[in-house]
Amino acid sequence: MVSIDDIKQKTIPSHIAIIMDGNGRWAKQQGKDRIFGHYQGVESVREAIKTCAEVGVSYLTVYAFSTENWNRDPAEVNALMSLFVDACIKEKDSLYENNICVKAIGDIEMLPTDCQKQLQALIDKTQFNTALTFVIAISYGSRWEISRAARLIAEDVKNNQLDVNDINENTLEKYIQTYQLGIPDPDLLIRTSSEYRISNYLLWQLAYTELYFTKVLWPDFTRENLLKAIDDFQRRTRRFGKTNEQIFNQTK
Ligand code: IPE
Ligand code: IPE
Ligand code: MG
Repeated sequence: MVSIDDIKQKTIPSHIAIIMDGNGRWAKQQGKDRIFGHYQGVESVREAIKTCAEVGVSYLTVYAFSTENWNRDPAEVNALMSLFVDACIKEKDSLYENNICVKAIGDIEMLPTDCQKQLQALIDKTQFNTALTFVIAISYGSRWEISRAARLIAEDVKNNQLDVNDINENTLEKYIQTYQLGIPDPDLLIRTSSEYRISNYLLWQLAYTELYFTKVLWPDFTRENLLKAIDDFQRRTRRFGKTNEQIFNQTK
């Protein structure tokens, strides 16, 4: 078993991103409707927030609903939206009291009005909190985010606020939602449920993120599973294109 004290002795990932997958399969295993899995998934989110805050992670970003998820059966989409509204209302006070700051990324305008309203209320209430920043990716897709950046850049060029020759990686990054909200790139990405893909999540931001895949279905994902993922991360060497010799000898 991985202890929290061991974890705290080593480098803590400053930003953990999670693809919370497997709710439907979990529910099916129990002989229940898919939405039951989503309800149970909220418990795992609560536990992940608590664990991240305890360990000293600064940012936790969870994939709650993708742009592609709009193509699911309308009954499931509606149930997910109302579950989201309920969670925003129910968790608001406890998130506030635990000093958690909530932010959201994604095409928020696509969400039903009550969803937008409750999400905004949660963001407003927790905006000055300073412990963990909890980022909800909802109606989020990287291709949408990057297209949005391209559109904003084009507008700035058209309005003579940006020179085409000045567009480079750093310029583009400034138009990416996470950057605009002050959220750094993830250090560790966790995907549950034995799926080995990114599913349009944080494509720009994951360029140098450590990837961790587990067979555990999201509703079964516990504090222990999260600590195990962090422990795995702490055993890796991040080279960012350099060699081990450069990293360990601190040479250029
Ligand atoms: C993840 O669980 C939650 C959302 C995508 C909203 P799924 O609903 O994708 O569950 P599986 O992958 O079908 O088991
Ligand atoms: C990714 O899960 C999106 C979320 C977890 C919200 P999906 O279940 O939608 O991903 P695919 O379709 O299996 O790639
Ligand atoms: Mg899935």
